[in-house]
Amino acid sequence: MFDHHLHERIHTILQDKKIDTVGKDSLFYARFMSLADTIAQLYNEIYYHHNRGADMFDALISSITNAYLERSVQLKERDIDKLEKGNWFLSNELTGMSLYVDRFAGNLGNMPSKLDYFNELGVNFLHLMPIFESPAGESDGGYAVSNFRKVDQRFGDINDLVELRKQMHANGMHLMLDIVLNHTSHRHEWAEKAKAGDPHYQEYFYMYDNRWIPNQFDEKMPEIFPESSPGNFTYIEECNKWVMTVFHHYQWDLNYMNPVVFKEMIENIFFFANLGVDVLRIDAPAFIWKQSGTTCQNLPQAHTLLRLIKHCVMVASPGMALLGEAIVAPKEIMKYFGTDQFVAKECDFAYNATHMALQWDMLASGDTRVMLAAQHEILQKPYGTSWITYTRCHDDIGLGYDDYMIEHAGKSPFEHRRFLKDYYSGSLWSSPARGALFSSNPKTGDARISGSLASLCGLEKGLYESNQWLIDQSIQKIIMMQAHSFFLGGLPIIFYGDELGYTNDYSYQQDPGKSYDNRWMHRPIIDWERNKKIHEEGTIENRVFTATQKLISIRKQLTVVGDHKNITWLSPHNIHIAGYIRTYNDKKLYCIFNFSDKAVYLTWYAFKEHGNHHSQLHDHWTGKTLNIGNDNEFLIIEPYGFHLLEAK
Ligand code: GLC
Repeated sequence: MFDHHLHERIHTILQDKKIDTVGKDSLFYARFMSLADTIAQLYNEIYYHHNRGADMFDALISSITNAYLERSVQLKERDIDKLEKGNWFLSNELTGMSLYVDRFAGNLGNMPSKLDYFNELGVNFLHLMPIFESPAGESDGGYAVSNFRKVDQRFGDINDLVELRKQMHANGMHLMLDIVLNHTSHRHEWAEKAKAGDPHYQEYFYMYDNRWIPNQFDEKMPEIFPESSPGNFTYIEECNKWVMTVFHHYQWDLNYMNPVVFKEMIENIFFFANLGVDVLRIDAPAFIWKQSGTTCQNLPQAHTLLRLIKHCVMVASPGMALLGEAIVAPKEIMKYFGTDQFVAKECDFAYNATHMALQWDMLASGDTRVMLAAQHEILQKPYGTSWITYTRCHDDIGLGYDDYMIEHAGKSPFEHRRFLKDYYSGSLWSSPARGALFSSNPKTGDARISGSLASLCGLEKGLYESNQWLIDQSIQKIIMMQAHSFFLGGLPIIFYGDELGYTNDYSYQQDPGKSYDNRWMHRPIIDWERNKKIHEEGTIENRVFTATQKLISIRKQLTVVGDHKNITWLSPHNIHIAGYIRTYNDKKLYCIFNFSDKAVYLTWYAFKEHGNHHSQLHDHWTGKTLNIGNDNEFLIIEPYGFHLLEAK
């Protein structure tokens, strides 16, 4: 509803700040005025009754305006370009890589010299794992931030980052960084002041004088790192209080009930936007609102806050898309794209973590039925939003999909999950995988899985046993897993090292700052001498790299694989085969994957369903053209083989 007073209030603030509402800033002005009512509505849903609610709202208007004023002309032009393109981030031309700057290149200063490498591979989107100041030894890989504005000196400084970003943009690349919204390091200035007894800063966190309220919270809150950081609260001796620490004991949860916290963090978001970030990865958004008596995850207020952030960003820096890093059940994940009037107006991206885990499920079982049982939920993703698709990332693999999906395939959820855990941790004798269980919780029986793509596919075992057959099979699996995620719809993000077949690195066990967290086994240190082998015909690095490169290049040629909400699953003619059809305009691409270790048969009838009348298929992977046969004849797919078949 149009609120005259609100518009007048905003107009006055903009005039004070010398915004040229009819000239060069007119687009900003138009965006602000058209979104003002929604921003106010969302803000008031959370802060209307707070005693500082009203003055913090004016402060928010100022923050949005300052962010716009501080945005460079180049970034404003980039915003306009992206707005004109429309949903730029749905494009088939984007392929990402996620990496730790220090472990990949030493520091930010060395990164520009690696741009040729990305270019050779075809990667044009980088997710730099957290690079802002974080105490060594208590950093959670950078996710415990002690200063949101200062690049940690291990990586270089802010100028190195801006220089890299400029070179990336000049080379047609995009940048993704994290904002760790849910918590700060206990070494952050706010936490230090809270420890010293400053009540203003104590209100930034959930701090309590005794265990009374923490106990109530603990009753319903699950534990995230039950082995290394059990419980959800930590006693702070300096101020004799308990503070909420959902993740590690050194990560203090921010209290968004306090509007001052929201204002501080939205300003940090704008700071990132004005560094030139194209996609902002909002770390752990599921956790940002807490309420005793609930699991404190996925609460409606968390969504309201995300929508508020999205609308503020749409005004000040509309070229920056948002990725909500919520690794939650399929039903819950959909809400991060927005619901009701906010559909496609909350997060632009979410991780397709369910499908990622289901790929590993299929690989271990050779059976696609659990995966198919999940699709009716995954397919609910609204048009105009997208997935991050991936096989591995810096985190563990959680098996959090619903029990009914497993039951649908006629399996027992408990036994099936036990099988998967045994299979990937290598404790099943028949398994070639070499991974480990992460965050086992003896109270619930839950556990997640750590391990690199290559090790989980069997390469580590194959190399250890000098078993050429197993080495070849694992390379085939690596490529098939990547292909499956690259063409699924969404922005594929490769985890660094996986493009070369890096296996687990166990050196983390010698580092006390890492040994408590086995996710470090799959966060490799890149050896650039070894990487030269990508040009040595027949080496593992060469085989994996060139296959990955080829997949990316095929993806870039096919507009049909852009995320136009255009995926249909093939009828399950054969439980070992996962097949999806991508359709756009008059194009049709059949992506067919064999998740079993045997050759499998697919009736040609599969290509005639849905009223299709094609006679030939061109395989972009092998370069061959296939004639569609009779219904009683078959396409034979090699063990862990796949085809990318364009209908002719
Ligand atoms: C996210 C990160 C993970 C980190 C956690 C706490 O889930 O991906 O690595 O441990 O947030 O910040």
